[in-house]
Amino acid sequence: CRVVVLISGNGSNLQAIIDQSSKAPYQVVGVITNKADAYGIQRAAEADIATSTVLAQTGESRDQYDQRLQQAIDSYEPDLIVLAGFMRILSDDLVQRYQGKMLNVHPSLLPRFTGLNTHQRAIDAGDSEHGASVHFVVQELDAGPVILQAKVPVFDDDTAELLAARVHEQEHAIYPLVVKWFAEGRLTMTDDVALLDGNQL
Ligand code: GRF
Repeated sequence: CRVVVLISGNGSNLQAIIDQSSKAPYQVVGVITNKADAYGIQRAAEADIATSTVLAQTGESRDQYDQRLQQAIDSYEPDLIVLAGFMRILSDDLVQRYQGKMLNVHPSLLPRFTGLNTHQRAIDAGDSEHGASVHFVVQELDAGPVILQAKVPVFDDDTAELLAARVHEQEHAIYPLVVKWFAEGRLTMTDDVALLDGNQL
């Protein structure tokens, strides 16, 4: 299974997915970023993985950007597109094109806390549990069917940084596992429902 990973920053999830690829039937064939200084690009280079940088140009529309992004993605002929901290909203056309073939990891127990600042919001809400979700990408932001979640406790004296680190560790465990399931042909999406081995998740 040919996997392309899209990143904007550190790329610790990318690293986890690369690290597990030796034990699973997938290969990261390309890494794409919208940020020139994304540390994940160095991680890809160290693993001998091809990279593409697609920077937004001034005055460019979202559709124009996404057309260039699509070209970069398709140049790797991927079976699966993995969003791993890619901090751009994708146009409906692009999402539609890769329907059922695009995953995202979100730092909350979806459907709770879509969007940004999830860790601080979990603390402010007084939640005792927080976590991470891997889901298929659909047109509505952070709304795709959830495939796998991991929970972490929220402690009384938590800060957003401490909680984020706890959640990140879980992301690194669940994201490569979901990519492996997809590569094994066990994971599909029909009518906005995620299925593992034909069973609804
Ligand atoms: C993760 O917290 C992920 O949930 C969110 O962006 C962050 C990416 O971290 N979508 P990294 O770049 O993989 O380290």
